[in-house]
Amino acid sequence: MRNKSFKYPLLCGLLCLCICLCGCTADRKEPDAEPTAEKNIVVGFSQVGAESDWRAANTISMQQALSPENGYRLILDDAQNRQDRQITAIRNFIQQGVDYIVLAPTTETGWDTVLTEAKDAGIPVILVDRMIEVSDQNLFACWVGSDFREEGGRAVKWMEQVFGDQPLKIVHLQGNLGSSAQIGRTAGLDEGAARNPGWEIVFRGDGDFTQAKGQELVQTLLENGTEFNVIYSENDNMAYGAVDALKNAGLVPGADVTILSFDASKTALGMLMDGVISYDVECNPLHGPRVQAIIEQLEAGEEPPKLTYVEEAVFDREHTTREIIDARGY
Ligand code: AHR
Repeated sequence: MRNKSFKYPLLCGLLCLCICLCGCTADRKEPDAEPTAEKNIVVGFSQVGAESDWRAANTISMQQALSPENGYRLILDDAQNRQDRQITAIRNFIQQGVDYIVLAPTTETGWDTVLTEAKDAGIPVILVDRMIEVSDQNLFACWVGSDFREEGGRAVKWMEQVFGDQPLKIVHLQGNLGSSAQIGRTAGLDEGAARNPGWEIVFRGDGDFTQAKGQELVQTLLENGTEFNVIYSENDNMAYGAVDALKNAGLVPGADVTILSFDASKTALGMLMDGVISYDVECNPLHGPRVQAIIEQLEAGEEPPKLTYVEEAVFDREHTTREIIDARGY
């Protein structure tokens, strides 16, 4: 009896515990049991490509700023320098219902249709780096980037100060034709050439902003016997290629040929200190935090400035030090 009377309360207790546990389990919501809305801000970023050190630094800057730690999900699309791929990427972003579209445009023209689609979908478009030409300025929320014409003007001013009215035979390595980086820097040189009758542009060609194309163009000129004493290279990577071509031909860059470049990446400034490149106009690629600040303003219902030009420096050999190079972010 003692044993029996002891057994029943024990069984009842176990039963109650089971019922209680089952009840608790049934009431409790598993964290992943129901779909939850994404808390991160979703940004589709259509990047030009990976043609240069500048571009790589720009992509990293965007990834670091628009990171999950900062409350973002970044969908990066590399267009491999093709506008048609950028248009496809933007359409994909619209279909995915991203919160913002960031566009680093390949060329200036050809954006009206796809940006109208983004506008109709209610997705703000933020432009970085290069500018675009559209019929309606409301097709994009705002832009942050460089004044490329001003950059070209700075390079030309240095040429005028250093060479005075000496005759120059200039090789002009252009970036991707139709990009505002190319258009602005080319305009700067054209204005300089118009002011200086002794300047002859002996060659002008599209070097794609790449090292390989820069080398190929200069090598061909050297093989053809084209004479020149200045290379105006619209970015650092084409300048690296030009340097390789000159060295391969037994010439001394910086002594036989003066090289001006744009971007002012760390590698180029090292070459500047070594006297290989003579002048470099900065083009700042660190747009990630700037885009992040714009999105935060838009999220807060504020109106960021429509156009923001970033501050940029110029570098010559005299004023460039190892400390300056080491402190740079790209
Ligand atoms: O639009 C910026 C330019 O594009 C940079 O000068 C160049 O390096 C890049 O590819």
